[in-house]
Amino acid sequence: MTRKDYELGDEIRLWSTFVHEDAIRAVAETLRSKWINTGKREKELRKKASQKWGFPFCVACTNGTAALRSALAVLEVGPGDEVVSTPYTFIATNTSILEQGARPVFADINYDDLNINSASIEKKITPKTKAIMIVHYGGNACDLDEIRAIGKKHNLPIIEDSAHAMGSKYKEAYIGATGDIACFSLQVVKIITSGDGGLITTTREDWYKELKKMVWYGIDRDAKRTNLLDPLPEDFKGDKLGFKYNMNDITASIASANLDHFDEVAQRRREIGERYREELSGCKRVKLLNYKKDRTPNYQIFPVHVQERMKFAEHMWERKIMVNINNRRNDIYPMFGGLREDLPELKRADEDVILLPIHNDLTDNQVGYIIDAVRKYDTS
Ligand SMILES: Cc1ncc(COP(=O)(O)O)c(C=O)c1O
Repeated sequence: MTRKDYELGDEIRLWSTFVHEDAIRAVAETLRSKWINTGKREKELRKKASQKWGFPFCVACTNGTAALRSALAVLEVGPGDEVVSTPYTFIATNTSILEQGARPVFADINYDDLNINSASIEKKITPKTKAIMIVHYGGNACDLDEIRAIGKKHNLPIIEDSAHAMGSKYKEAYIGATGDIACFSLQVVKIITSGDGGLITTTREDWYKELKKMVWYGIDRDAKRTNLLDPLPEDFKGDKLGFKYNMNDITASIASANLDHFDEVAQRRREIGERYREELSGCKRVKLLNYKKDRTPNYQIFPVHVQERMKFAEHMWERKIMVNINNRRNDIYPMFGGLREDLPELKRADEDVILLPIHNDLTDNQVGYIIDAVRKYDTS
């Protein structure tokens, strides 16, 4: 039987999209204002996000993939370079490396939290390594202290693919407030969305200035035009390729209005996630991820390990509860250079991880029903 057979229209969905009425009003206002290009709404979004999560510097762009590529470009990652990266992620993490002409070198992950394994990162560093790419999988932060120590030791910058991790914390700091560069996504299933969109944060002012230019052809949009007959500011040299990744004010007004409601969205996800963790903790055939005490996940998704995954999926689908596999190990896709044989933890996770539904439209009754269904499987 395939997943299609179970798509009956009244199932409990795996994910949903949160758009507040304020976003609808805000976008109408922006459209009526006739300034729909990158402008004050985009500035307002960056300011709000920075104030809320303590980002030292923040750039907005068209999507999370563009954010990653821009970060790599600012770090001058290019042909011939290697980036040590995680193979357990959505492919965008690693296609952004290919887009820059570089090669992802896959480290192993931790089976118990699905994040990149620090010791494995260090083993994969070669003279060609130009950067380290990590993903805070499912919104649960990586072992940042250890990874940053490795980065420091080898003089390698760390890009945190934080597509899942808006509002997540590592120790006392929000993701994006510390470290080198963090890239966020505002794509439809994300905790805050604008349809598509991205944010790039950094603690370094020089990188901020470069990133800001990188998302608009290498031009500083805020630079004053001194010569009215020249369309570009005087300091634009045109010596470095930039991208057309700037966020416009239509997108920014949706993101900004939704961001005002982040706390309520995050609270509901936390309630559901914590209830799952409490009520499913005793299961034997379904295992929760290990969320260490010093981090605060945002419950962007809820992955679990299950025995006999296909049977579990059918059990849930029969009850009209959508479950699915979020990502496959990226090295199954030939563009990444072929299947790696030296990643045992990745192999295990790739065979048994599945997502339970988590989103704002779930009612308490539905959450109870999902928990019941999982428990029935566990004892079947
Ligand atoms: C881990 C990860 N990185 C990057 C991306 C790409 O983000 P976007 O869709 O905004 O380009 C996603 C999107 O889902 C993702 O899950």
